[in-house]
Parts: sequence; structure tokens; C-alpha cells
Amino acid sequence: MKKVVSTLLAAALMTAAAGCSGTGGTNAPAAGGGPANTDSGASAKKPVIGVAIYKFDDTFMTGVRNAISAAAEGKAQTDIVDSQNSQPTQNDKVDLFITKKVNALAINPVDRTGAGVIIDKAKAANTPVVFFNREPLADDMKKWDKVYYVGAKAEQSGTMEGQLVVDYFKSHPEADKNKDGVLQYVMLKGEPGHQDAELRTKFSIKAVEDAGIKVEKLAEDTAMWDRVKGQEKMAAFLASHGDKIEAVFANNDDMALGAIEALKAKGYFKDNKYMPVVGVDATAPAVKALEDGTLLGTVLNDAKNQGKATLNLASVLAQGQTPNKDNTGYEITDGKYVWVPYKKITKDNVNDAK
Ligand code: GAL
Repeated sequence: MKKVVSTLLAAALMTAAAGCSGTGGTNAPAAGGGPANTDSGASAKKPVIGVAIYKFDDTFMTGVRNAISAAAEGKAQTDIVDSQNSQPTQNDKVDLFITKKVNALAINPVDRTGAGVIIDKAKAANTPVVFFNREPLADDMKKWDKVYYVGAKAEQSGTMEGQLVVDYFKSHPEADKNKDGVLQYVMLKGEPGHQDAELRTKFSIKAVEDAGIKVEKLAEDTAMWDRVKGQEKMAAFLASHGDKIEAVFANNDDMALGAIEALKAKGYFKDNKYMPVVGVDATAPAVKALEDGTLLGTVLNDAKNQGKATLNLASVLAQGQTPNKDNTGYEITDGKYVWVPYKKITKDNVNDAK
């Protein structure tokens, strides 16, 4: 009898999920204004999903966040919060979501090694969790069966970044400015420890070497995915290495665009002075730079599908089901992972990124 009553209570609260009052119950949102703030629809039985982004002030993640909101239309209520680049802040937000009894969590960890703590909290509350963009360690992913990850294969983006430079070098012999048969490059790295920063750095250069081109690293530094830092670091590279630099690898477009600003200040991109610069993400300003002829190439990091897959998995889990291709629209690999493919983008196929 007790079970029937609590099940009925839970169902009633699910129905009333659009921010009205209630006394709380199994897997239902709590009282006090309700957790949802991005979906005004009040239709019955919409699951509530607590979403935490590592920080709102990130160009690519803003695209993913918007994609999550768009995918939630008519399907789920989302409460999307900014973790302000602090893992303790994110842990507090997760605690709050759990107190509010959201039906599922979608978490973009600040520190991917911090995912284990979040999994423990989620498991104790029996709230399924979908991580995205920052891949938890494999051992943490194994801690519970209601843990999933949506992302893209970092090594694939690195390889593509390298191939863009290879294609340019093979078709432009003059790119080897000092004619020594070696590609002198600088690397703008994303946040250290982030799988995308580590693997893009490694696999972009591996792709160049695999194509039979010798390389010499003149400089490498982190610019933390940030445009202003990218500009500052590139200005420093130019101050120390000047015209010896033959290519710029950036682990994302914001840093590449910063580098382009520093290069422009040194007279590049006019009067036949050119520098091949590659990035990753295919953000709107990067697409514009491709069209302007400053950015050589980028790699489409598919924010739309990463956001949609995250939301679809979370809403299936929130309804007590197991995600599969039929109910999410995405292939699930190894029972836990959705991998969204990358794509090389140059001026020639720029429309694929729009
Ligand atoms: C990467 C992306 C970067 C940055 C980072 C945040 O996938 O390329 O621009 O958004 O995620 O974790």
C-alpha cells in the first residue's frame, strides 16, 4: 500500500513538474520554485534534468548549451547552471539538483578527474548521470551502470588538424620558408589534462610525421582555450622566434583566432605575408576567418549533435529506461559512450559547418 501511495505521489509530482509547489517524492522535483527555468511548457510528465556546464564563458560550450536547450523543447525541463570553472562550485550545484530531486543529471565536469565524486553522489540518490565534453576516467565510468558519456574522439580531431597542415605543405612548397625540409611550428595548447588538449597536441603532430614531414617544435604553451590568452602567447612566440615559425597549431578556434590577431599585428595576412593557422570547433567567428582567408582550416566539433545526444540520453534515463539507438537516435558504444564524429573544414566546404 505504502509503495502504491508513493508511486502515485511521484507520478502526481512529475505531472506538476513545472515549478509548482509539492512536498517532494521519489524521483520528482521538489518544492520551492521548482528547478526548471528554460522550458516554459507545462505539459504532463516532462522529466526534469539538472545540467551543469563547466563555465558559461566558453564559445564552444555555449553552442552545446544552446543545443541542449533546443533539444529539450517539448521533451524535458532543463535547469542549466554555470559551474564558473570551479569543481567545488559544481559539486554544490549537483548537491542542490539532488536535493531538488531532478530526474537525471547532465554534467560537463570542470575537472574530469572529479567525475568520480559526482558519480558517488548520483548513485546514492539513484539519479542517472550523463557526462559530456570532458571525459571521465574509464575506472570512474565503470562505477555504476547509470553513467554515460557523450563526446567526440579527441585523437580524431588532432589527426584532422595535422592533415590540414599536411595538405597545405604538400601543395605549397614555399611554406618551408628556410628550405630545410623541416616544418618549424608552434603549438597553442588548451587546458592541460583535458583529453582534447593532450590528444590534439599529440595526434596533430603525429599526422604530420605520418605524412613523411619532419617537424621541429619551436614553442608550446597553454592558452586555456581562450582567445585573449592565445593572442598573448602567440605575440610571445613571435617575439622569440619571429619568421622562423612556419605553422601554428591551436587546439581550438578561439586560441587560433587570438593567434591570428597577434600575426596581423606583425604584418601577416597582407602583402603576401601568410601563416598557416589551424584550429578546432568551427565556431561562427572561425568560419568567418576561413572565409576571410586568415584561418587555414578547422575541425567541426559538432555542438548540435553533442547537445542533442546528451539531452536525449538524459531524458530516456530520467524516465527509467535504458538508452539505445531507437530511443535516443544515437549509437551507444560499449554500453556507455556516444561518439559524435568530427569533420575537416576548409574554405572549400565551409557550408558544412554553418
Ligand atoms: C573542447 C573545445 C574547446 C573547449 C573545451 C571545453 O572540445 O574544442 O573549445 O570548449 O572543449 O571543455
